[in-house]
Amino acid sequence: MNILVIHGPNLHLLGRRRPEIYGKGTLASLNAGIKEHAAGLKIKVRVFQSNSEGEIIDLLTANSAWADALIINPAAYTHYSYAIRDAIDALETPAVEVHLSDISKREPFRRISVIKPVCLAQFKGEGPASYFKALDFCALMRK
Ligand code: DQA
Repeated sequence: MNILVIHGPNLHLLGRRRPEIYGKGTLASLNAGIKEHAAGLKIKVRVFQSNSEGEIIDLLTANSAWADALIINPAAYTHYSYAIRDAIDALETPAVEVHLSDISKREPFRRISVIKPVCLAQFKGEGPASYFKALDFCALMRK
């Protein structure tokens, strides 16, 4: 099984960005954890981080033939990117939304996800384990 993992804007700053919310771990350590967890499930992953909406759509498109599923942390785009939502909907790759923090318990603007309706599941509020649970969820979809 092949899974595309995309981290959205500002997640390259993990470790120095609001560690009380996002933890002290860096993007590199998160990605190492994702790769290790995926290997344990015999899942192949391609992992990208982008600060740009258009680039995220281009990554989704370029990898859609390869990917059996998508795990995406759209970061701030979660709350307003109809363009990313439309791309997920158009490409029809089964998608899972993840967040390090619990967006349902934060500022009002973060409680809305325009991405959620085009995803099969949402895992949030568990730090890196949100991604690991998303990988477990995808593994259960495997034929
Ligand atoms: C986030 C939550 C978003 O509201 C925020 O803009 C992020 C990270 C999370 O993983 O908790 O950049 O997606």
